[in-house]
Amino acid sequence: MEGLRGHDILTLGEFTPDLLTFFLERVAIQKRASIATGANYRPLAGKSVAVIMLKPSLRTRVSFEVGICRLGGTPIMLIGEGSAFSRGETVQDTVKVLERYVDCIVLRTFAQSHLEEVALHATVPVINALSDDYHPCQVLADLVTIRERKHRLTGLNAAYVGDGNNMANTLLIGAALAGMNLTVGCPEGHEPLPEALERARHIAEYTGSVLSVVRDPAAAVADAEVVITDTWASMGQEEEHAERVKLFTPYRVDADLMAKAAPGAIFLHCLPAHRGEEVTDEVIDSKISAVYDEAENRLHAQKALLTMVMG
Ligand code: CP
Ligand code: NVA
Repeated sequence: MEGLRGHDILTLGEFTPDLLTFFLERVAIQKRASIATGANYRPLAGKSVAVIMLKPSLRTRVSFEVGICRLGGTPIMLIGEGSAFSRGETVQDTVKVLERYVDCIVLRTFAQSHLEEVALHATVPVINALSDDYHPCQVLADLVTIRERKHRLTGLNAAYVGDGNNMANTLLIGAALAGMNLTVGCPEGHEPLPEALERARHIAEYTGSVLSVVRDPAAAVADAEVVITDTWASMGQEEEHAERVKLFTPYRVDADLMAKAAPGAIFLHCLPAHRGEEVTDEVIDSKISAVYDEAENRLHAQKALLTMVMG
């Protein structure tokens, strides 16, 4: 399927349900093959990918660098302030120069509008490696992980509790594409973006996903076969941390909250986790936790994504 060749991936809304199904199958096959046979598959041979990180990163940075190498490509890692989009150089000039060297741009930045501006000027595909509003690569890995553990996505009940942040926005779109039901439990004033919910609900009209936003964390996890959370203060919100801890404490995923979910429910967190805040050790270290598989699946998901957008 050629559906994503040359496309930017800025929100996950670029996928269709069929493309997501194709992607999930491709990840499963490539993951089995690379585990069984090692790295003989080199579709990015002769190609370079710029990976620009304007916010801190462990998983995204390493999984992209390793993934690009394993596909036979060359990662060009531009890390931190001063690496790109600095010294007063315009977005246009930066992008027009970069694309003379590289075949794809992976960018972690702050404003979604920065990614959109990069994509506007770029003739090579642009992949969002996290912005203030969306984290598509993470949600692709989450869907891979849920499918591995639960053997299906369509009709599955998932819950996200905590801040209606970049993860919540993207999970709504991912759940809708997968036909998975998602209830977001969050405090007033910290809901997912209205445009993310609207986009997800539009997709859900075709896939049948039931999407809702509630206040009560217990109501959010009732019947959930997957419980997901994330940090209460995202990168760039550090000064709000103390105030947020007070507001979000009822949304902590502890053993009591997990007991209200469906029997056999699994736990996901994109990491880094703030143990004792949004999740307790007893949950994240328990056998229901899939967080390390989820982190590994960043590698497999991004390898498949790169091959789809770079052809
Ligand atoms: N989950 C995730 O994106 O991790 P990093 O911020 O470490 O890349
Ligand atoms: N919501 C978090 C995700 C980190 C991977 C943040 O943006 O900091």
